[in-house]
Amino acid sequence: MLTIAQITDLHITTDRDPENRHRNATRLESVLKAIHGLHPRPAAIVASGDLTDVGAPEEYVALAEILARSEIPLHLTVGNHDRRQAFLDTFAGAHALPDPNGFVQYAVDVGNLRLVVCDSLDENGDEGAFCEARAAWLAETLDAAPDRPTVVVIHHPPIPSGIQWMDPDPAADWILRLEAVLAHREQVCAVICGHVHRAFQGMFAGKVVSVSAATSLQLTLNLTPVDRRVADGRQILIGEPPGFALLTWTGGALITHHCVAGDFPDPITYDKPFDAT
Ligand SMILES: [Fe+2]
Ligand SMILES: [Fe+2]
Repeated sequence: MLTIAQITDLHITTDRDPENRHRNATRLESVLKAIHGLHPRPAAIVASGDLTDVGAPEEYVALAEILARSEIPLHLTVGNHDRRQAFLDTFAGAHALPDPNGFVQYAVDVGNLRLVVCDSLDENGDEGAFCEARAAWLAETLDAAPDRPTVVVIHHPPIPSGIQWMDPDPAADWILRLEAVLAHREQVCAVICGHVHRAFQGMFAGKVVSVSAATSLQLTLNLTPVDRRVADGRQILIGEPPGFALLTWTGGALITHHCVAGDFPDPITYDKPFDAT
């Protein structure tokens, strides 16, 4: 069985923010330890953006130091907290590639699965973006391998979570553009995302959208209306355990497990056969 781990929203930073630096690095290390302990060991790790907190070059250096300890190949992309040039300066090559227009978009085969990694970053805002140039690249890239089972990786989910202060307008241009590319391209078996710092799933363009929990803090699950112009004191983030997702490909179906990392009590071992003879 082929498995691929997804991590997201690492928000690695430096001593410019000591509390976040320590907490987010520790939580990422906990997730990497959990992934390396899985049976079987995943064939790859894909990181779906918000790798750093503000996209500063020194944050990517700090991240690279942590990721260098991974024994599993890593494929990375950017989120709204990243900055392309600083990211590419550190990671272009084995971990990521720019497309001909300079966006962080590339395809990579992992066993029999193809990952097509997309760039939804707008460097002037936090909302998702997917311009005509990026959409054309995605269409062309998908059409180059129409028979290979494919997972599309993109930081911003194109569907609302119900956590309203984070949600996109479902009629936003970038979402309609992405939908037009994905619809009827049957080889796409899932779209995996981050950004919301909480695991949820839904459907988009006939595809399963699977969003992983963050390695850093999780968003509080509050589905009541919110006024983005009036702070009402609600809790917005909480230290639930660091999470990740595990994509499993059986050859005919893609299954996603949502996992938490940490040291947990009361393990029970398989000491007697499940089936008596
Ligand atoms: Fe994030
Ligand atoms: Fe984000």
